[in-house]
Formats: sequence, structure tokens, C-alpha cells
Amino acid sequence: MVRVIPLLSAAFLFIASGEAVLADSQHPFRDSSDFLDTCKLINNSISTASAVYYPPSPSYTADNKHWAVSSSALSACSVEPGNPEDLGVILRILGDTRTPFAVKGGGHATNPGFSSTPGVQIAMRLFDKITVNQTTSTVEIGAGLLWDDVYRALDGTGLNVVGGRVSGVGVAGFILGGGYSWKTSQFGLTIDTMDSYHLVLPDGTVQIVTPANEDLWFGLRGGFNNFGIVTKFVLKAHPQGDVWGGFTITPGLHYADKVNAAIVKFQQEVTDKKAMVLPTYNTVSDKPSVELLFFYDGPEPPAGIFDDFLAIPELQIIVGPTSFLEFFSILPSSDPFAGKRAYFSNVPVLEYTSTLLDAIVNETRFWGDKLAELDSHAAVSYDIEPFDSGLFSHSNTPSAYPPDRSRALLPTNLYFAWTSPTRDADVAVALQQSTNAVRAAAIADGQDVANAALYGNYALFGTPVESLYGANLQRLRDIRSRVDPKGVMGLAGGFKV
Ligand SMILES: Cc1cc2nc3c(=O)[nH]c(=O)nc-3n(C[C@H](O)[C@H](O)[C@H](O)COP(=O)(O)OP(=O)(O)OC[C@H]3O[C@@H](n4cnc5c(N)ncnc54)[C@H](O)[C@@H]3O)c2cc1C
Ligand SMILES: *[C@@H]1O[C@H](CO)[C@@H](O)[C@H](O)[C@H]1NC(C)=O
Ligand SMILES: *[C@@H]1O[C@H](CO)[C@@H](O)[C@H](O)[C@H]1NC(C)=O
Ligand SMILES: *[C@@H]1O[C@H](CO)[C@@H](O)[C@H](O)[C@H]1NC(C)=O
Repeated sequence: MVRVIPLLSAAFLFIASGEAVLADSQHPFRDSSDFLDTCKLINNSISTASAVYYPPSPSYTADNKHWAVSSSALSACSVEPGNPEDLGVILRILGDTRTPFAVKGGGHATNPGFSSTPGVQIAMRLFDKITVNQTTSTVEIGAGLLWDDVYRALDGTGLNVVGGRVSGVGVAGFILGGGYSWKTSQFGLTIDTMDSYHLVLPDGTVQIVTPANEDLWFGLRGGFNNFGIVTKFVLKAHPQGDVWGGFTITPGLHYADKVNAAIVKFQQEVTDKKAMVLPTYNTVSDKPSVELLFFYDGPEPPAGIFDDFLAIPELQIIVGPTSFLEFFSILPSSDPFAGKRAYFSNVPVLEYTSTLLDAIVNETRFWGDKLAELDSHAAVSYDIEPFDSGLFSHSNTPSAYPPDRSRALLPTNLYFAWTSPTRDADVAVALQQSTNAVRAAAIADGQDVANAALYGNYALFGTPVESLYGANLQRLRDIRSRVDPKGVMGLAGGFKV
């Protein structure tokens, strides 16, 4: 198997953006050193299963590290809880002392302050167990793991779960926001495949949340860290056989019309939910390209369904029939972009028409050029996610996200990356402008998406929570007041109900 480093360092998945409104700013600002007393108190209260780290310990550095450099902060200390009981003790101390804190799973959030803090950084690293139960067809996944770990553990078991699409992404934030997967057309979002959550509540008590607990079940399915900290996700598994898939990269935008025609045709003609294509328009350092990722959940795709895409001149790496793990491993990873500053944003749409796709190609050109003027290492990326229109029909239990399951929303991801911290505000403004332009193009094209719910895992900081949860917001607020009357989880960053 050839491992290919994408030509253009793959600005291929996702985006987010915003205005720098850190959750910590809701509280009177204190310097990191003020939080050292809380660190000491925690250190003196936890069992030997857990540990507190300070700079320059390598554990402290790893605990604060994020995929996007712009998402990292220097915390007063980091804490690695080793069991749910210690995590409960830690949450009680943080609440009593009103200390800002953060919870980090895989650290892939692109919004500053969502899983980082100047206070106490909780890193879930030690929750690292995976247990496959063949009898119940469920998989228990520790909240500190990456999808890479999950797929490695499931390889050869004949089972799989609805999880992340590319290497490096954490299970925790991905699941807590919803989870768009290679399997979503077939099985729904990851939150539609949950068996249960092991949760440490804001008051420090430990609870297993199942559908019987209607409120928390509703809140945890899309509600991020508003209701406590999850230590373990139990997912329902499905049988997994051999798969087919891979990717192509074509420099330039000369073939954009052909790619767009193929996307429109794919949506109109391919009804096989095992088939997925993820086209991305990228510009890296002012050089545009088209990247196409393919997946078929079977040894070989039915004849013809990807032919229009594969006919376009390209660098092409396709594997299959092969294992799901092998397919996942050959995809361009998120690593080429690790170490840059990055924001995500998104435009939910009902379908990709050629008018809308033309507008996206124009945005790729326009902002690729503009950002290169600001920062020669800048990159822009627009992901087109043509899932099956029945993607929300796989659950009939209400969930925080999406607030409306009656129609499909395809969560088009915009992603800008750059290197210079002096450009943060400019990039956030640019990303918001481009987001508005893509949304305006969809609306001009006749799509009723002016108020379509945004996907939290791709939403730019500063996005009002109404835009994520719509009519669900009041119920989420009621649940939060009951579960967290002291507002402990409000001390952690993120989209707060
Ligand atoms: C390269 C790349 C590819 C991606 N691909 C996809 C994709 O295919 N589909 C998709 O849906 N999304 C995708 N995303 C978005 C991804 O879902 C988010 O970045 C998500 O936040 C990642 O989870 P994490 O654990 O790594 O994040 P973190 O930054 O660790 O956490 C994100 C949020 O979750 C909270 N959180 C983390 N752990 C816990 C916990 N145990 N309990 C309570 N709250 C917690 C944090 O406080 C924070 O608010 C991608 C992102 C990147 C950068
Ligand atoms: C943390 O607690 C451990 C065990 O109680 C103790 O040995 C250690 O000195 C403490 N560290 C700090 C920096 O207080
Ligand atoms: C799988 O689940 C069943 C039913 O709950 C249980 O009896 C069994 O012990 C579990 N097996 C493992 C390996 O955890
Ligand atoms: C291309 O995008 C830019 C920025 O959104 C916009 O100003 C311009 O009018 C667009 N051009 C076309 C032809 O749509």
C-alpha cells in the first residue's frame, strides 16, 4: 500500500470561525497564577489514579496541545483524571472555587477556548479503554480516544461503528456535537447510534445515561459539555465486511465544471446509501485544487456510480476490497494542517445545485487569493457533503441537534488556515463573509436555509446558540438549570445554552 502525502497538504475537511469571545470572559478575569491554588487543592484531593501536571512537564504540554495552534492556551496546570470518581471530585472543586476549566478529548475543536483555558485543563487521556461486546453488539469507547484507536481495536472483529472520517479526530467532541460519518447516509449521525453515556454530572455524581433518562438523553445528543463530562460512550455496532474507497487530487480548478456536474448527478441518481463522495475545493498558498474522497461500504461499488469523478485527471489512490481500517489509513490525514491556526464555519444546505457549486468554486478562488495576500501560507477549503436526503430519518427520538429532523441539512464545511497570530481577527471576518456569501447563494438558488440549524462542530465561535438548537433551546436551558443549578459547566468554554 502506497501512502501518499497529498500534493497540496490537503485543506480537505472542515472549517470554523468567529469573533474571539472566550467563555472565560464571562467571569472576572484572573491570571493563570491565581488558579494554582485550585491546582494544589485538586492535587491533594484526588487518588493516585489521577495526576496534576505543571510546565514544563511533557504531560502538561501534551494535555494543552490542540490540532489548531490557535485553539491552544497555557493553563495553570493540567489534570488527567484516572476514574469517574476523581473527575467528580475535580468538578466539585472547580465549581466551589469558580475556576475556569476546559475538557479536552482529541483537541480538534477549532474555536479558541472551547477545549482550552488559562485555568485548569482537564485532559481525558486516561479514559482510553475500548471494549467490544459481540453478544450485545455494542462498543464501549473511552472519552480520551481518537477514532484511529477505535478502528484499530475493531479491525478483525467483524463489527464497526458510525465514527470519524479522517485520522486524528477525537471521539468525544465529535460524538457530543452529532457526528457526520462515512456511514451517515446508512445509519444516521453517531448520536443516532448511541447505547448509553457514562456521565459525571456537574455536582460530581456519576450516572449512566440511557434513553430512559429522556432529558439527559436529549441534551447529550448534540449538547456538547453543557450537562457534565462524559467518561465513556457506548455505541451500537453494525456488521462490517470489506470496503472500497480512496481519494483523488487534481491541481487547479480547470475541471470544476465536470466535478460539479458529477456531484449534481451523484445526488440525483445514486440511491445506494453505502456510497459516499466528499468533494473539497481547496486553495493552499494561492494554489487551488480539487480533492475527492470516496467510500463504498462493500467490496466494490456498483458499476458506474463514481465513474464521472474518476474520469477527471488526478492523482488517484483507491483501495479495495479491503478492511475499513486500511481504507481509513490511506486517506489524507488531518496532520498536514496540524500546527496551523484554523477556524471552521458551515452553511447547511438542502442540496448542491450547479449554481450553488459554482458559487463555492468562486469563493475558493476569491478567498484563496485574498488570504494569500494576508498570509502566504494561508489555506481555504470548502467541503461538499452530499449525504442521502434521509440522513436524519434514522432516529425518531428527539435530540438537541438537529432541532428539525423533517428535512435533510448537508453541513457544508468552510475551513480557513493561516500562520500569523496577527491575522486572527482578519481571518475570522473573512470566513464569516465567505459563509454569508455561500448561504446567500443557496438562498438565491431557492433554498429555504436562512434559518437552517448550524452544526456545532463546524460553527464559528460567536455563533449564537439559537442558530444551533433553534426551538430546542428552551428545553436545553430547562434541563441545564435542573442538572447544573450552580452553573459549573459554564466555567468551561464551548457553545453554552
Ligand atoms: C481534520 C478534522 C476532521 C474532522 N472531520 C469531521 C467529520 O468527518 N465529521 C464531523 O462531524 N466532524 C468532523 N470534525 C469536527 C470534529 O467533530 C470537532 O473538531 C470535534 O470537536 C472533535 O472532537 P475532539 O474530542 O477532538 O475535540 P475537543 O477539542 O477535545 O473537544 C471539543 C468540545 O467537546 C467538549 N468535550 C470534549 N470531551 C468531552 C467530554 N468527555 N465530556 C464533555 N465535553 C467534552 C470540549 O469541552 C469542547 O467543547 C473534524 C475536525 C477536524 C479538525
Ligand atoms: C501532589 O500530590 C502528591 C500526592 O499527594 C504529592 O506527592 C505531591 O507533592 C503533590 N504535588 C504538588 C506540586 O503539590
Ligand atoms: C456482553 O454483554 C452481556 C449482556 O449484557 C454480558 O452478559 C457480557 O458479560 C458482556 N460481555 C463482555 C465481554 O463484556
Ligand atoms: C465571487 O465571490 C466574491 C466574494 O464573495 C464576490 O464579490 C463576487 O461577486 C463573486 N463573483 C461571481 C462571479 O459570483
